[in-house]
Amino acid sequence: MALITLPKQNRTITDQAQVGQFLLTYNIHHERWPLPDFAGPDATPDAILAAYATQIQTLKTRGGYVTADVINVNPQTPNLDAILAKFSREHTHAEDEVRFILSGRGVFHINPDRPGHEVFAIQTDPGDLINVPAGTRHWFDLCAEKTIRAIRLFKDPSGWTPEYLPTGLHGEFVPVCFSIQQFSGEPQVVNRLPI
Ligand SMILES: [Fe+2]
Repeated sequence: MALITLPKQNRTITDQAQVGQFLLTYNIHHERWPLPDFAGPDATPDAILAAYATQIQTLKTRGGYVTADVINVNPQTPNLDAILAKFSREHTHAEDEVRFILSGRGVFHINPDRPGHEVFAIQTDPGDLINVPAGTRHWFDLCAEKTIRAIRLFKDPSGWTPEYLPTGLHGEFVPVCFSIQQFSGEPQVVNRLPI
């Protein structure tokens, strides 16, 4: 499930309906997709793309995306810190950032860059699909496991190229990840882990 954190208000939104409504304010769409066993962590990228072919086609039709791939980052990834540093500075890009999280966890910070709207964080967990619209100021950090496997969709793969902002706010916010347990049918924040 996705979580919203508003750091300046020290407020976290866990209710998924409220999360969806909040994100739509910023034209960010959130969905939950099932995680079938046959598309587990050891599945090949082709097997994963085949398992989600129907959903991917739906997104392509809806958003005009033409290609999809699977990104896989973990502590064994060569030059991991350099790769993560590319994501964790405030940037925009020319096309949507569409991600379906298969495994691992990460935090998008969104800078609405609008009067009266503050920077907020979206924690994405396995099963979450979100899009960050083209031109949105944002940055991304992995949680403590430094692991993420995700389906990405593109209109043009070169469109992912980040355009960094000299006035980026990433240095002012500490990314925080939450561990969540289901309890009495309600999601509860049970642990807070610094990245
Ligand atoms: Fe990005």
